[in-house]
Amino acid sequence: MVSMLDKRNRPLRDLRISVTDRCNFRCTYCMPADIFGPDYPFLKKEELLSFEEIERLAKLFAKDLGVVKLRITGGEPLMRKDLPILIEKLAKIPGIEDIAMTTNGTLLPLYADKLKKAGLQRVTISLDSLNPERFKQMNGRQMSIQKVFDGIEAAKKAGLAIKINMVVQKGVNEQDILPMATYFKTEGHTLRFIEFMDVGNSNKWNLAHVVTKKEIIEKIHSVYPIKPQPPRYAGEVASRFYYEDGAGEIGIISSVSDAFCGSCNRARLSARGELFTCLFASSGFDLKKIIRGTDDDQDITKILKERWSNRQDQYSVERDQQNGNQFNQKKVEMSYIGG
Ligand code: GTP
Ligand code: 5AD
Ligand code: SF4
Ligand code: SF4
Repeated sequence: MVSMLDKRNRPLRDLRISVTDRCNFRCTYCMPADIFGPDYPFLKKEELLSFEEIERLAKLFAKDLGVVKLRITGGEPLMRKDLPILIEKLAKIPGIEDIAMTTNGTLLPLYADKLKKAGLQRVTISLDSLNPERFKQMNGRQMSIQKVFDGIEAAKKAGLAIKINMVVQKGVNEQDILPMATYFKTEGHTLRFIEFMDVGNSNKWNLAHVVTKKEIIEKIHSVYPIKPQPPRYAGEVASRFYYEDGAGEIGIISSVSDAFCGSCNRARLSARGELFTCLFASSGFDLKKIIRGTDDDQDITKILKERWSNRQDQYSVERDQQNGNQFNQKKVEMSYIGG
């Protein structure tokens, strides 16, 4: 299939599907508890796309727009009831080579087996510190770190491939970089360090709180020499490094200090059914209205192609051009769009 290119010559490859905007954590950098409180207007069940609607859209993205990878996100995707049923539907879509999910891991003991059987291939589990107290503080709900370890164990037992995501914030958990590297090097799971990003308008982001890719590399390299590796596929988000001692790899996601918009091949579908062509967009395009208004899939494909071919987004590059200062604009929240 000829791939569709956007205005900056980027093909579409990944579709990130958010299935809920709810989460059982309140990570300070994502859903700070003072903003996402008991009265926060989360989406109501009837506002969400149904599994059949998500499947219909994913099929069209795969057949007509070149999508080969699906990533299920939230909020916390396992807060959506019966998620394995959706995975089973998505896994059957011709052309989809990779189905992954980003999760905080706490519900994996309940679902890992069912997800694997349904066709999920891999999970990326968020974990920001090995220090039990710091972990409790960062997740905003005093959740015990043991719950995440239990989730990692369940994923392993189920045979899911595992990556670990650590968001690094200056003055908060930078002291955990090395202990995390040491631990996951031994465990054999790929650890990715993520620069704290200015997603949404709630997380009080400040450039001074970013630990840069360069700083992370220096810290690790001084103890465990690492060497850069080429991406596994065009447009991979993380820059990859191998430990020189052969103990596997780490990744660094540097949206702030080293933007990667030039190869951005990702589209995002919100739980409410809007299409976002950038993580930092102010608003999305209402696909739910379109799909509920027609039985003709060709009409939908035409619109998807138009949206992608007119895409110009490159937020992180533009932020960089103004010396890392974020723009004073409304941005969609991370928990709404799934990262
Ligand atoms: P792989 O499929 O294993 O390559 O994972 P992934 O990097 O696609 O997925 P994951 O959900 O683990 O994302 C890792 C981090 O990268 C999260 O913090 C995401 O928010 C961030 N991220 C993913 N895609 C983009 C993007 O297009 N732009 C920016 N700025 N950040 C992104
Ligand atoms: N900056 C960087 N990463 C973030 N994540 C959530 N909020 C932010 C932020 N502000 C991470 C989560 C999860 C992934 C989807 O994005 O920890 O691993
Ligand atoms: Fe929930 Fe993940 Fe956001 Fe933390 S980062 S609040 S676990 S969606
Ligand atoms: Fe893609 Fe927007 Fe992220 Fe740039 S900032 S990589 S365009 S999602």
